[in-house]
Parts: sequence; structure tokens; C-alpha cells
Amino acid sequence: MCGIVGYIGNNAVAEELINGLKNLEYRGYDSAGIALNDNENIDIFKAKGKLCNLCDVLEQHKKQLLSSTRGIGHIRWATHGSPTVENAHPHRSNDGKLVLVHNGIIENYKELKEELIKQGYHFVSETDTEVATHLVDREYHLAQSLEQGVARAVRLLKGAFAFCIMHQDEPDKIVAVRKNAPLIIGLGDHENFIASDVPAIIGKVQKIIYLDDGEMALVTQNQVTVKDFDGHILNKNPEVVNFSPEAISKRGYKHFMLKEINEQSDIVRNLLSERISSVDSPLNLQGINWNEILKKTKVEIIACGTSLHAAMVAKYLLESLVKVSVNVEAASEYIYRDTITGADTLTIGISQSGETADTITAVKQAKAKGAHILTLTNRVDSSIVRYSDNIIPLNAGIEVSVAATKSYTAQLISLYLFAIAWAEHQTGSNLKKLKELKQQLLELPAKMDEVLSKADALKEQALRLAQYKSFVYMARGVNLPTAMEGALKLKEISYINATGYAAGELKHGPIALLDENMPVLAILIPGGVTYDKMLSNCEEAKARHAKMIAVTSSLDEHLVTIFDEIIRIPEIDEALSPILANIPLQLLAYFIADALGREVDQPRNLAKSVTVE
Ligand code: AGP
Repeated sequence: MCGIVGYIGNNAVAEELINGLKNLEYRGYDSAGIALNDNENIDIFKAKGKLCNLCDVLEQHKKQLLSSTRGIGHIRWATHGSPTVENAHPHRSNDGKLVLVHNGIIENYKELKEELIKQGYHFVSETDTEVATHLVDREYHLAQSLEQGVARAVRLLKGAFAFCIMHQDEPDKIVAVRKNAPLIIGLGDHENFIASDVPAIIGKVQKIIYLDDGEMALVTQNQVTVKDFDGHILNKNPEVVNFSPEAISKRGYKHFMLKEINEQSDIVRNLLSERISSVDSPLNLQGINWNEILKKTKVEIIACGTSLHAAMVAKYLLESLVKVSVNVEAASEYIYRDTITGADTLTIGISQSGETADTITAVKQAKAKGAHILTLTNRVDSSIVRYSDNIIPLNAGIEVSVAATKSYTAQLISLYLFAIAWAEHQTGSNLKKLKELKQQLLELPAKMDEVLSKADALKEQALRLAQYKSFVYMARGVNLPTAMEGALKLKEISYINATGYAAGELKHGPIALLDENMPVLAILIPGGVTYDKMLSNCEEAKARHAKMIAVTSSLDEHLVTIFDEIIRIPEIDEALSPILANIPLQLLAYFIADALGREVDQPRNLAKSVTVE
């Protein structure tokens, strides 16, 4: 996933573009570039690596920057071609007059490149984006205007693309295009903005136009005209921006990740207060077509990464509360399997960003087979929503850090509430048990605050563990996904290898890994069906001299004879424990990564949403 920005107005455009790109860095940060149009020429500035490297380049051209008031910019997460200056965007036509930035993937770029080379176009990069650049340039020379040339070109492209395009001979406009990659237009006062996502224009405009797939916008300083690819003018109603600048500030925390970890209890409070008016009355879950859902005899849940772990927790909840069969699968696997999906199926897509290509493709496939689509997403303005019959918004606020934390907790809470609500709609459900669950949910935020209040002690434990090169995380039952999620957090921000295993599986091979250099973190919840077995597995690991760490609500003093580190969480029903047990794992990963000096909010090789399959 990459970030695109565009500006046309009266301000020094370089500053506007850099500010926008700064708020899109979470989308990718391999390289960055901007193109400035000063009505005479179009100048391009690019740099490899972080956005600050581009700022250093611009520092050397300060005077030149002041005369331009329109431009486009890009921050890249490399798909085709390594992160080099040559592959960085913007790309330029051979005559130097047309520039283009792109988010997405051109699927037919190879055959188009061969055709363009035969026609005499020469290439300087390995990217699919440069192919699009020369294609637009070719079509522009056959058209009456830039927007006509763009419309001719995009009809020849396959795949996902959001573009911003400028031409030196038509300096008063920017053309923006959207197909399977998000793009919005910010409407200002004698100025207009283009961006991949809202954070780029927060505080700049009050109204935005969300382009839909197959639409393009002709953006001038005082007008925005939206058309389809056939040139028909479309009437788009601007929407009010409902995010404050606060949403993208660290509020005094060292990293967005630590801020977002600490926001979780309030997010849960808000989610619960919106949906539980009283433990004695049915849940208030809006926008769910229960008539459809109650007819479904099976459920499949599709997601990626952290969202997949939430899906795994949901399996336990739905099967125990609703007594419905649930299949959970990584979206990247689901789309290549001949799934038994049909009108009898509820397909749940879980995606924080709502832009994950694998999950969107999977949901589209399920819909085509007749399934009823329910989506849980933190971005109700995202692409996945277009293919969904029902939406459960996570309402977790913008999650800037690449590592998912608060959105995962919001997913879990939403899934608990959905499972309870479904059970409430069924005849013969154990209403007493459901009432107890709702009561325990209401008690969660205070328990989450209790865990968060122990962050300093946890930091000390993390510093003792930061030296290790590899970890095993293990659990059973509803906390197996918690172990996998904790391991993913550690991997993706500290670069330490960590694997989440079913504890019962350890003796079938992975136990060979254990020695004094391999810490084993175990999640144990007393009163749960797996507690005694977990203790046995921990004894087995201890016997192999592993450094033992427990995340547990147990107060059993005997545990000190097994564990070198004990991370205690408040007493909680095993069914709800994933929400609580996950927080120390988030903090552990954070403190270890920070102690190692990692780029916690923007880990290497990652992007906040993977919009390519
Ligand atoms: C989680 O920390 C990662 N950033 C990643 O696994 C993420 O959960 C995954 O890419 C799915 O993203 P989505 O929820 O936006 O679809």
C-alpha cells in the first residue's frame, strides 16, 4: 500500500504535500517523492527510505520550492522493483511533461510495457507505475485534453490503481483516478486536496468527496468535476470529515503504538455503552439483518494477520454460544480454494483497514457464491464495505501504528457482542449465561486499566527478555489465537522470531527447540478447561531448561517453582480472557522493540494495510 497526495491552491505546495505524506507514512515508507508544477516546468524530487530523507533533499532547493502552488506526492511500499530512487514515484513521461503517482498494482503491465517499448518508449524503472505513465502519455497525444487522455488509458489497464496525474501543458489541473484503491478529494477554499486517506487532510478541509471505483476527478483550484471512465459527469455529494487532528497526534506518548495500546479500555467502554443498555435487555447491535443471518447454517470467517487471530477467537465464541459450525481461514488461502460457500453461509470478513486485497477478494468471491456478507472494519469508508451486506464498525479511531493493537481489541469485543446478540435471537438460549457474559464484559474496562497500570513492571520484565533471539508462545483453546497474536506482535516490531503454538502440540516436535536460550511464554487461566493441561505442558518445557514466562490470572504461589517471570492479569472467565491476556503481550512486544531501538510505529518491510495480493 502506498500514499498519494495532491494539492492545487495558493500555498507553497511542497509544504502541503510533505505534511500530507507525513500523515500517510503508515501506509508505506520505502521511498518518497513529489512533483511541483510552477506553470513553466514540472520539477521532481525523490529520495529513498524515510520521508525525512526527501525533506533533506528539499532543503537544498528551498528557493525553487516557493514558486509552485500545485503538485503531487507519493510515499511508497515497494511492490514492483526494490525501494530505489529510480523506482520511487512520481514517474515522468519521456518528453518530461507528464508526471504520475500510483497506489495499487497494474496486473497487465508486462504486455503493455512490451507494446510501449515497441512503440519507442524507454523506461528507467522496474515499476508497473512507469508503464501507466507512458500509457497515459501516449493516449494524451491522441486526445483533446489531459482528462480525455487519462480516460482512454485507464480503460486499457487491469488491476488496482489510484492515480494523480499532472501535465506541464495543462498546469491548472490535476487528474485523479480511482479503481480498486482508495482516493479522496478534500474541498477547500480556493484550494483542493487529493489523498489516499483522510489523515493526509485532517485539519485542512471540512468536506471530502470519496471517489468510487471507475471514477476520475478533474481538480482545479476552484472546481472539482467527477466523471466515470466514459466521461459522464457524476453528481457526488461531499461528506463532512469527522476526524479531529487529535486522532493523528501522539498525545505525549513516545510512539503511536503505546498511545493506541493505552486507548483500549476507553474504546471498549464506548463500544459497550453503545451496545449494552442493560444486562437484562437485548444487545443494541445496529445494521444487522437477523432475518438473513438466522437462516444460515454455517459460518466462515476470513481475514489476514492480526484480524485472522480475532477470527480464530470468534470461532470459539460462535460455536459455544450459537452452536453453529464455523470455519476460519486466511484470506490468501481461501481465495485459491474451491470453498463450499453458498446461500446457507454467513461469511464474515474482518479487516481493520478495509483495504486488504486478500480479504476483499475473498469476500467478493463469497458474495458471488450467494453468501450473506458481514464485515467488521475500522474504516466504514473503505473498499470492503462496498461488498458487504452488513457492517459492524469497530469505532476504534484511526490506528496509525502499523502494528494492530486497539483495532484487535475492538474486533474481539465486537465479535463477543455479535455472538451474544445472535444467541439472544435464538429460541432456547441460556439467557442467564448471556446475562453473566454481558456483566463480565461491562467489568472488562476496569480490569484492562489495571493491567495497563502495571506497564512499568512489565517494562522491567521486557528488558530482561530483550536479549533472546527466539520465543515460543503457547496456550490452549480460546487463548491459542492470543498466543499467536502475541507472537506476531513481537515478530513484527522487534524482528525477534516468535511462534505461537497450541501447547498440546509442543511435544510433537517443537519441544526440540527448547533449551536455556528459548523463552517459553504460556497463557494460563485457572477455572478454564485447559488449566491443568497447561500446567503439565509448562512443566515439560521447564524440564528442557526453557526460561518460563506466565501470563496468568492465577494467584497460585506454586507457580514460582515453574516460572521465571509471572505476568499477572485480573481474575476473568476463560471465555473473555483473550481480551485481557493480549494486553501484556502487546506491551511486552512494545517494550522489547523499543529497547532494541526498532522503528516501532513503522517496522521495516511492513505497511499498515496490504492492498496487493
Ligand atoms: C497486524 O499487526 C499487522 N499490521 C497485519 O497482520 C494486519 O493485521 C493484516 O495485514 C490485516 O490488516 P487488516 O485488518 O487491515 O485487513
